Amino acid sequence: MKTLNIGMIGYGFMGRTHTNGYCQANHFFDLQYKPVLKAVCARNEEKAKAFAQQWGYESVETDWRKLIERDDIDAIDVCTPNNLHKEISIAAAKAGKMILCEKPLAMNTAEGEEMCKAVEDAGVRNMVWYNYRRVPAVTLAKQLIDQGRLGKIFHYRANFLQDWTINADVPQGGAATWRLDAEAAGSGVTGDLLAHCIDTAIWLNGGITDVSAVTETFVKERTHAETGEKKPVKIDDACSFFCHFDNGSLGLFESTRYARGHKALYTLEINGEKASIRWDLHDLHRLEYFDHSDDSVVRGWRSVHVTDGDQPYMGNWWVPGLQIGYEHTFIHQVADFLKSLETGEAIGPTFRDALETQKVCDAVLSSAAERAWKNV
Ligand SMILES: NC(=O)c1ccc[n+]([C@@H]2O[C@H](COP(=O)([O-])OP(=O)(O)OC[C@H]3O[C@@H](n4cnc5c(N)ncnc54)[C@H](O)[C@@H]3O)[C@@H](O)[C@H]2O)c1
Repeated sequence: MKTLNIGMIGYGFMGRTHTNGYCQANHFFDLQYKPVLKAVCARNEEKAKAFAQQWGYESVETDWRKLIERDDIDAIDVCTPNNLHKEISIAAAKAGKMILCEKPLAMNTAEGEEMCKAVEDAGVRNMVWYNYRRVPAVTLAKQLIDQGRLGKIFHYRANFLQDWTINADVPQGGAATWRLDAEAAGSGVTGDLLAHCIDTAIWLNGGITDVSAVTETFVKERTHAETGEKKPVKIDDACSFFCHFDNGSLGLFESTRYARGHKALYTLEINGEKASIRWDLHDLHRLEYFDHSDDSVVRGWRSVHVTDGDQPYMGNWWVPGLQIGYEHTFIHQVADFLKSLETGEAIGPTFRDALETQKVCDAVLSSAAERAWKNV
């Protein structure tokens, strides 16, 4: 068994999902490489040590630069807020490390381009954690589309709805609410949530050519969690946009953190000439499928329970009928990454793939700011 020594930066939400992926992948997939939890890095040593002990990391670092300098680290996993993705990734590429970076790739396209150049110049393996590609039902959707079962595609529709920032007392900035601080996050729902929808859309339906967007910031000022200062809110609380795809289809996307009652409602629907599909994160193991070629007397939407051994990834899990969940998308991504080390094939989404999503996000934000259609 060959080893892949992981250096993890950040131990928050994603630090946990990825670490779980490293721990589980070899239990369920036949792989020649095995991740080794070499070191976790965070600024607070005590918290980093507690995390290392809980999850089995061999050591801790408090400065990510030191982690990158270490000879015993093969791959750097970037699980920090968005404003650190560029600096860490470029330093890691220069040190010859593989990089697994969280999404969105960067704060903006210019940063993303620098990151792509750095990994490509260094020739290091790179990947971005757009994990929803690896929900078995979404992967199945990709297979059905690639088989031509939908025929010509007319419409792509996606939503990502939450409700956690409606209260104006929620602060911005700091460890828990950096997502509301433009300096740490870059943007609001566009980079945080729509980026997922855009990555999946490009993967399933091809490139996006131009966009027309509207954004809103409902709560204009929030207290900064660290300084206590009331400051203007510079992120987008909500964003909707129309777009054209290269294949001629129309896209309609909406994301907000003000949809009372919705916690993480990521839904997508694709309408083609021959068939339609739809998917919902709250019911993630199901793919809804309507096939117009069915006998008309029984034609209707079917709800495919994606748990059978011949459906994507499911042969590696339990028995047909038993479902898996959110954390498995990260296990799948780790397994695919390790497999790519065996085969030498690129593993998507690469930094370059994620740059396409970044470009769409930038076009969306500038379209909203200028109230004009923007080319991607
Ligand atoms: N793929 C997904 O579905 C998904 C979901 C959530 C978040 N994300 C992305 O993952 C990244 C992290 O988000 P999160 O929800 O895990 O955030 P989080 O706040 O839970 O964790 C961030 C971590 O970064 C650490 N950190 C911050 N500055 C650091 C520094 N200078 N040096 C070392 N560590 C530092 C913090 O200590 C913390 O452990 C973001 O880019 C976010 O957009 C992706």
